[in-house]
Amino acid sequence: MSMINAQHWNQLPKLLNQFSTNHDLVYIEAFFEEESFHEILAQSRLYRKEVEPDIRLTNLTSSMKPAELTYIPPSDEILFGGLYESKELKEFIQCIVNRPKLLTFNCQRYVVYRPGQGLDWHKDVPTYIDPEYSAILTLENETDSSFKFRDASRQVHTIHTRSNSLLLLKAFRASHKVIPCTYGSRTAIIMEYTPTKSKGPLFYPNIFFYRFLKLFRK
Ligand SMILES: [Fe+2]
Repeated sequence: MSMINAQHWNQLPKLLNQFSTNHDLVYIEAFFEEESFHEILAQSRLYRKEVEPDIRLTNLTSSMKPAELTYIPPSDEILFGGLYESKELKEFIQCIVNRPKLLTFNCQRYVVYRPGQGLDWHKDVPTYIDPEYSAILTLENETDSSFKFRDASRQVHTIHTRSNSLLLLKAFRASHKVIPCTYGSRTAIIMEYTPTKSKGPLFYPNIFFYRFLKLFRK
């Protein structure tokens, strides 16, 4: 049975067009079939108590507090019913971004945004030679937060990311901003895919910086 809402498979040409017009970004509502989405949601609630600050973002010069993170699970741990490794999800993303093969690299996380937490205008930093793609599935959003991005003609768009929506974007392309909410919380799963594992110049600095901060905090 298909996990992804069948209407999106039928609308692929339209989504492909939006992806290119939006500078390699697309936002899709009612992404999963209801039953599949509720299974993911139920499992995600088990991780909520494990949230800890996302130390990788503490170096950003921003007045906003970064989002929080549960943990990056070991590679053999299957979260969310194997969603990240799902053949169907990978195939769908490959069609939109027009890549014959995308790889996972054990990079998925569960994030919680609370009041005051957001990110200023930025482009995601690629760690591989061929920039990776982030797929952000919003689980719950009972907040007034919003997501802004600049399209290929630099026009700014604002989205209120709804529950069961997927936001797909390529690193180092569309600049975007997360405006903090003033109440409630928003939860999401962020999954990253790469077309190649050839490391870019920022791969090792990123890893060393992360490990250094982790040691420092213990
Ligand atoms: Fe970002």
